[in-house]
Amino acid sequence: MSAIAVLGCIWGDEAKAKIVDVLAKDVDIVVRFQGGNNAGHTIELKDKKYVFHLVPSGILYPKKICVLGSGVVIDPQQLINEINYLKERGINFKNRFFIDPRASVVLPLHKELDEKKESDAGKTKIGTTRRGIGPCYSDLIARVGIRMQELIDKNILRSKLEEIYSYHGIELLDIIIQIEELFKVGKELEKYFKQIPYFLNEADSNGKKILFEGAQGALLDIVFGTYPFVTSSHTVSGGIPIGSGLPANKINKIVGVYKSYFTRVGEGPFPTELKDEIGEQIRIKGNEFGSTTGRPRRCGWFDAVAAKYTAMINGVDEIALTLLDVFSGLKTIKICTGYLIENRRETQFPADSSILQKVIPEYIELPGWDEDITSIKNYEKLPENAKKYIRKIEELLKVKITIVSVGPERSQTINIS
Ligand code: GDP
Ligand code: IMO
Ligand code: MG
Repeated sequence: MSAIAVLGCIWGDEAKAKIVDVLAKDVDIVVRFQGGNNAGHTIELKDKKYVFHLVPSGILYPKKICVLGSGVVIDPQQLINEINYLKERGINFKNRFFIDPRASVVLPLHKELDEKKESDAGKTKIGTTRRGIGPCYSDLIARVGIRMQELIDKNILRSKLEEIYSYHGIELLDIIIQIEELFKVGKELEKYFKQIPYFLNEADSNGKKILFEGAQGALLDIVFGTYPFVTSSHTVSGGIPIGSGLPANKINKIVGVYKSYFTRVGEGPFPTELKDEIGEQIRIKGNEFGSTTGRPRRCGWFDAVAAKYTAMINGVDEIALTLLDVFSGLKTIKICTGYLIENRRETQFPADSSILQKVIPEYIELPGWDEDITSIKNYEKLPENAKKYIRKIEELLKVKITIVSVGPERSQTINIS
């Protein structure tokens, strides 16, 4: 039995895909279990850059099997576009890419509803990716959603479309066109349908190694994140069994991915946000612009209060610390170790976003380093102050850092045993 998970532990974009790419070499199956094409996962390999939205990043290894589990929401046309784009770049999908027919379908209606809610003045703007994610998950929970299996039956499609439009009180004007379009993409994707709970459990029993690739990050979890400024799925490790069908007691290692600093795209509280030139310097050096929407990412210091919380709720066993190279050249580096809430010191992450919005972070300061570390392969060769930074985060989170990433390439990785 060997299933591991690679999970983002901030607000997404922690370089999960880079870490998945490093770890996938030793596994047989890579599984996405939540989220949709709101994700943007980047892998740089031999001067080529790949950005994945729905397809698991493991697809770059020619023999790995890649899976979309029941918890994923799929925009079928976008998935087809992504598959075609990857096929054009020489990637083979035959007998190595599967979809659970239970996965939900993101409809054009969901994108319209997402767009409308975000544009309506007066409503809370989340700053979503406008990919229809929230409305699709809402309809799943309201039991009016459409699942992948249903795309391949025109009669079911008709009655489901009528039901969902009536549920939203919206007139369904183009039912014939919608049925035809959905049926067409469904038929194209049908060859990938597989009972993923059986597939994963059998694979596990047969000694195959499974890797779960998280999307978004723990602070964007629908319940444990900075609600309502979150995505609509369970991004934490608890989401794996319900989004895949492999039970929790079969998952034996959780790798938490943390950036060396914090970033966030979209609205919502961010206690350690840097709105000065240091924030700008990090944004430029770390190329902190959204992989999906191109929006500039908000940047700030590492927040150990939030980080400890996400390590706890995920059950993080080991940490991958990424983008450490971005700090080269900074005189000092800060880490937030506590919050002040109305002059009271708080070490727990507040449950309420309106409180988080008001906290004043308390910092410790560590000395920086000037050296370029992007070609260092060995922990011992890192500048002393970079090692001190790594050790301090380990000490604060009480979890071992086993991987340090110093650049986007597979080879720019330091393993610490
Ligand atoms: P994900 O969504 O968590 O997979 O992360 P993204 O792909 O959205 O964003 C991470 C970005 O950082 C990508 O452009 C990666 O190529 C890049 N990257 C990954 N690891 C490193 C690193 O250690 N250093 C630097 N400078 N860039 C990195
Ligand atoms: P990866 O997997 C960063 C953010 C959006 C917005 C909120 C809700 O690349 O880490 P949604 O479209 O999901 O309803 O938007 O979540 N968000 C992400 N931020 N990385 C992502 O994915 C994200 N996916 C969604 O910016 O604040
Ligand atoms: Mg991303």
